[in-house]
Amino acid sequence: MSRYHRARTRAFYWRMAALAMFTLSLVHLGWTHQDKVDLDNVLLEWKAQRMRLTSWSTGGRNKQVALDSKDEHWCTPSEYLEGEWLLREEEVTLENIRAVFKYTDLGLLKCRAADEPRGVEPGPDDPAAWARILETAQYKWVPKSVCKQHSWSKWNFAKYCLRSKGGCSLVGDSLADQIYTAIWSSMITKGDSLFKLHASTERIFDITVNANHPMAQMLADAAGVTVERFNRPIFNFWREHHLVNREDLDAAFVGFEGYEKWVGGPSMAESGWIWDRSRWYELWNSLLAHAVELVPRSLDKRVPLEENSVISFSSGPHWTPVELWPKESAGKVTPEQILHGYTAAVDRVIQNVTAVAQDNKVLTWWRGSTAAHPQCSQYTKRDFGLLLAENNRTTHHSTLNPTVKGFNWDYFTVYDKLVVNKLEGEPEAAMRFMDLWPISVTRPDSHLKSTTDCLHFCSPGVPNELLEYLWHSMVLEGENDDYDDFP
Ligand SMILES: *[C@@H]1O[C@H](CO)[C@@H](O)[C@H](O)[C@H]1NC(C)=O
Ligand SMILES: *[C@@H]1O[C@H](CO)[C@@H](O)[C@H](O)[C@H]1NC(C)=O
Repeated sequence: MSRYHRARTRAFYWRMAALAMFTLSLVHLGWTHQDKVDLDNVLLEWKAQRMRLTSWSTGGRNKQVALDSKDEHWCTPSEYLEGEWLLREEEVTLENIRAVFKYTDLGLLKCRAADEPRGVEPGPDDPAAWARILETAQYKWVPKSVCKQHSWSKWNFAKYCLRSKGGCSLVGDSLADQIYTAIWSSMITKGDSLFKLHASTERIFDITVNANHPMAQMLADAAGVTVERFNRPIFNFWREHHLVNREDLDAAFVGFEGYEKWVGGPSMAESGWIWDRSRWYELWNSLLAHAVELVPRSLDKRVPLEENSVISFSSGPHWTPVELWPKESAGKVTPEQILHGYTAAVDRVIQNVTAVAQDNKVLTWWRGSTAAHPQCSQYTKRDFGLLLAENNRTTHHSTLNPTVKGFNWDYFTVYDKLVVNKLEGEPEAAMRFMDLWPISVTRPDSHLKSTTDCLHFCSPGVPNELLEYLWHSMVLEGENDDYDDFP
């Protein structure tokens, strides 16, 4: 009971009010049409009504515009990001956690006990780990404005990506992997799965439609594509830490005093976190070389519009001397040198994406950093008042000791600023910045393993809200308007 009272902040009341208005409009529609309809029909009706209003509104009928925009105000990116973590209305339990997060029977539930000693790897049945999975999963990101969020669904995501030539792609390191995990965790099921995951040792991961599945034809029809499209992925995750090729890095660093061309370094550095190749550009171009054939859907006989091929990039944690330089000379590297290399890599990615955008319909983002919190083990109190205070934080620094440093985490905001400034100065660049900081900086309590890993987040939790935001942003920019349909 008290958990509800504590959660009833202003934003919560606003959401209840919005829900009540929505419900009233449904009741009203059901009543005016005097149908004995089930909820699905009412929703379809409501959607059709809304579409009529939308088409009238373009004819300048102001009354309808007002009505429509009230019901249909989708959060702008800045409204979405100006939010807070609130307790979910429904308590998350071991029984409902998969349903709450739209996870399949295979979806990954992962978080480590708060007091776990270093070097200990407990089994998956550790009760303390399960307790923490539940503790960190109780919250939801809620915009403070009265605006609607497009809600992630595997079905609508598949429709969107199938309508594009290159599908939807994510490039980056283990932080990108967390968003990828949220995606596969809600798409891949045990047994005969509609979606199939392929993973290669080259760290190329993709999700395709299983054309033999009983639902496959229905999906092709809902998307308005031919089954031929199933030959290529819906989604790709290309795991790369620096996003560029070795030559690009060498070119960026050459000329610096103390720079040592990265050849024949210690095998640990060579085979560990840096690879002397980047594949996303070549792989993406090969997907974009195929046309997508769009066909009328049986539902409305309409041919959907081709969607943007979506790609987003992130990089940051691996820009460290020990990874970029041979071990012997890593100590000589300065932060300026690292930033110089980072800038050159960002330039390269922007240039190449912009070149691709000349001939293809693409939507591309540079995903900003997610916050890592030094000394995150101090955030162990699951007191909701404490979390409300964290909702106001803008820096990742330790509350107890704001001067303490962790790895290169202080540079994350510097990297982000650099990309933002660059994009502001290059309006012709086919790249936008996607800010992930507000959603992540406010959850210092939910890092994967608070004794040793204050960089990654527990799953499900923050990564799922990042995915929701990514999806919301995609739909805002989408060509078609059927991404909120109930599958
Ligand atoms: C960018 O494009 C150039 C020219 O096509 C290519 O040589 C280079 O490998 C690409 N770089 C990346 C990071 O994809
Ligand atoms: C957060 O900041 C707002 C405005 O700056 C303030 O009104 C509110 O009391 C703060 N909340 C907490 C829990 O500190």
